[in-house]
Amino acid sequence: MTNKAWSGVFEQATDRRVELFSESISFDHRLYAQDIRCSIAHAQMLAQVGLISADECRQIEQGLEAIRQEIEQGNFAFRTELEDIHMHVEKALIERTGDVGRKLHTARSRNDQVSTDLRVWVRDAIDLLDGRLLDLQKAFVGRCDADADVILPGYTHMQRAQPVLAPHYWLAYTEKLERDRGRLADCRKRVNVLSLGAAALAGTTLPIDRHDVAKRLDFADVARNSLDVSSDRDFAIEFAFALSLIAEHLSTWAEEWILWSTTEFNFIKLPQTFCTGSSIMPQKINPDVLELTRGKTARVIGNLTRLLVLVKGLPLAYNRDLQEDKEPLFDSFDTVRMCLELAAPLVAGTELKRDVIAARLDRGHLDATTLMEFLIKHGVPQRTGHEIVGKLVRTALERDCRLADLSQAEFTAAHPVLDSRVYDSLGAANAVAAFVSYGSTAPAEVAKQVAWWKQKLA
Ligand code: ARG
Repeated sequence: MTNKAWSGVFEQATDRRVELFSESISFDHRLYAQDIRCSIAHAQMLAQVGLISADECRQIEQGLEAIRQEIEQGNFAFRTELEDIHMHVEKALIERTGDVGRKLHTARSRNDQVSTDLRVWVRDAIDLLDGRLLDLQKAFVGRCDADADVILPGYTHMQRAQPVLAPHYWLAYTEKLERDRGRLADCRKRVNVLSLGAAALAGTTLPIDRHDVAKRLDFADVARNSLDVSSDRDFAIEFAFALSLIAEHLSTWAEEWILWSTTEFNFIKLPQTFCTGSSIMPQKINPDVLELTRGKTARVIGNLTRLLVLVKGLPLAYNRDLQEDKEPLFDSFDTVRMCLELAAPLVAGTELKRDVIAARLDRGHLDATTLMEFLIKHGVPQRTGHEIVGKLVRTALERDCRLADLSQAEFTAAHPVLDSRVYDSLGAANAVAAFVSYGSTAPAEVAKQVAWWKQKLA
């Protein structure tokens, strides 16, 4: 009736519907490499402490390696009734090695096994994503020299605000991605703790050596409390959060570039290889990759919410609910990874329409704040300067002209310090050149930042 590892106490076979309902092999099969790696380390430790012989350990290792190959070559049969990847691998090992394979699960539970597998998987995922984030940073920094002299309108409230150098924009995203990398690195510290050896929840009466396993699996630490670690999914949630913030950053960038690619903005030309057309409107070249990057952020945030709600109110220690942690985690990782892998070539391959941008840089009085600061430099209180420039902007708006088009007489009438030198601070280029503060869009500051990033990312 039963071929299940846990069926000894059972008198009846599992309802087929329950098997379908409770299986996780359809998604946790992707933990096979981690599961095998952790099992080999576990077996080596068992041999080390004398719970199995060296020969048994060798048979287990060889058996597990053969199973890995079978899986990788697509020759491995996955069966719903075997529940999950752990059961599949163990069952296959027992089929190959008999009683030797039946020893592998010594001093181990699927509860600490799945947690360890997942930690190794998240650790690998973090390391991979760090490289993808770096690639995207390099794409942004890689644009900086070519775009060094391009001045863009900077926006607040989506209204033209102050002029900003294009590299300043690129480095703004580079900074966000750097924090994302920092968050992943920080999360990795809490991921990188061994749970194996917690067994079901309380540890084991057998003389295992958890620190030996930790070393074999490159874990920096061993979880101190078996009860805590068998219920702990903080590391998964933290990872899902870090992924959510990456997705948010990509979404901001995507939104901005979607706008910039419109006829209304017309700041950029996206590479056609990253756009798609319309089935009815022949002229359309749509920024679908950017839209989907923005759209997929929803599922990444949804996955984080799923995980948070999943663990809410779960009593210690392992509960089967926790099986639901993997799909959202896998999905968030796959999604963010794909977005990053598309973002890097998209950033590198997009053309900045310098002439169009330059031709409209006079719109929106981007130099108004600089003019106000000109007054402040000449002793005018900020509030007074603000009011004076506000009135000058009102005049310019009425006349539909630039501040630089106002006459000397108008400036002098507004305030006596606004002599002919005032014209040297007007216009986007003069305004940008006037910045001096640390971290500002001042050309010298931006150049310093570009140099710093180039060295950092080299
Ligand atoms: N497939 C399970 C999971 O993903 C593995 C642990 C099951 N443990 C148990 N005692 N049923 O969480």
